Amino acid sequence: MIVIIDFGSQFNQLIARRVRECHVYCQIEPPTATADHIRSMSPEGIILSGGPSSIYQKNSPRVDAGIFNLGIPVLGICYGMHFMVDTLGGKVKQADKREYGFATLSATHQVGLFKDVGPETVTWMSHGDSIEKLPKGFSITASTANTVVAAMANTRRNFFGVQFHPEVEHTVKGRTIIHNFLFDICGCKASWTMRSFARDTIAQIRETVGDKKVILGLSGGVDSSVTALLIHRAVGKNLTCIFVDNGLLRKNEATQLKQKFKSKLKINIRFVNAASRFMEALAKVSDPERKRKIIGKEFMDVFEAEAMKIKDADFLAQGTLYPDIIESQSAFGGPTAVIKSHHNVGGLPKKMRLKLVEPLKYLFKDEVRKLGKALGLDDDLIWRQPFPGPGLAIRVIGEITRRRLEVLRTVDAVLQEEIRASGYYRRLWQSFAVLLPIKSVGIMGDGRTYENIVAIRAVTSKDAMTADWARLPHNLLGKISNRIINEVRGVNRVVYDISSKPPSTIEWE
Ligand code: XMP
Repeated sequence: MIVIIDFGSQFNQLIARRVRECHVYCQIEPPTATADHIRSMSPEGIILSGGPSSIYQKNSPRVDAGIFNLGIPVLGICYGMHFMVDTLGGKVKQADKREYGFATLSATHQVGLFKDVGPETVTWMSHGDSIEKLPKGFSITASTANTVVAAMANTRRNFFGVQFHPEVEHTVKGRTIIHNFLFDICGCKASWTMRSFARDTIAQIRETVGDKKVILGLSGGVDSSVTALLIHRAVGKNLTCIFVDNGLLRKNEATQLKQKFKSKLKINIRFVNAASRFMEALAKVSDPERKRKIIGKEFMDVFEAEAMKIKDADFLAQGTLYPDIIESQSAFGGPTAVIKSHHNVGGLPKKMRLKLVEPLKYLFKDEVRKLGKALGLDDDLIWRQPFPGPGLAIRVIGEITRRRLEVLRTVDAVLQEEIRASGYYRRLWQSFAVLLPIKSVGIMGDGRTYENIVAIRAVTSKDAMTADWARLPHNLLGKISNRIINEVRGVNRVVYDISSKPPSTIEWE
């Protein structure tokens, strides 16, 4: 395995992705990790990430210098290289010429990190500092027009530094460079696959949980489904899933889930129908944040009450993913502004003393999908588009009534049917309908109508942080609009949302 030290770069997750694409396991650690802690993880090598600070500034992040005495290779990227230089006796200063964007790199020899890279290659740079004096034992291994020390190496100790970012797509031979570090320099083996991950994780869960009972909140999304499958394989009947039907789900969602998990996979599930309770709590509420808070609280109450009925439960399983963990541990990310409160992040039933089991906490979303596949999960569950915890409540803009929910649910079902039939479902990050709180005039047959407007939202995205509206074919949009207006009573107008994120968000509330 490889340890990545997170100096706060916006690309640190990308470094992890690249390493794992090579089937080598890696974990991101904060700079506060001690050398002893890192040694205990027995890594084959360390990668020091980039970061927004300058090493010569006060309070710039530093990791225990003992990592250079562990006898394993270290690769420093940008700030990570500056840290290496500063710590090992060299000097970093503000660059005369800053370098952002593409730069052609000339490597002195095509060996080591630069094996198979060629004498010149395009790299991507983003730095305002450069190296004035190399530490003892290092030599320059590549330069660009503006940066003399674009790469350095101490081949005796297996320490390497690169000023550019090999982890980003723009660095054309970035993957080769990372591959060289992992296999030629660190001697890693490409043995990390989803099958091996599943095998190891199931064994670990068995060891941790023993013959105790585990509770899991099942939502029907890919994360909680895969978590359920893993834990079920490990402890069988000692897993009980709780599914809360809040009345804000898509059409047939609860029934389908019941069929899959209960009948087919034979997993213990308790279904709680709490629709009325949620409706009552949401009556006359139109503020989006209040909706979210209410739904979050009701969910916790219902879940807790149901969980209390399960005697002798010791563990609570959650489908937390790696990006959540990285964000919460990052020493420099700082708290970002609350745009929307996501109710389903964190939060244990407080009355019960449960220990957490989070088997997916080191995986990225696409890895979870691969894991689902390796565990034999159906494609339609694996490729489910994300659906927000507060469900249709945040897509009925304004007050929520049973009638309005039903209108939206029916519209949404038509939309889903068409999107699936067109082959677009998997290509879209999300596709859904929003019911607006205004009416407009229309004409049906010979009569005037004064009815609801629905907006269709379809977006492409990699991680929901940014998104673009999908360029769906006009005839598909036309068909969707026709069907909705013809088939759903109470709707006489359909509009298509053509805003990207940012500045808009994916959901309307
Ligand atoms: P926004 O609307 O902030 O959404 O661009 C980004 C992604 O998060 C989903 N979303 C939620 N998911 N609970 C969730 O589980 C929530 O409260 C919630 N709010 C938004 C949204 O569907 C999109 O995928």
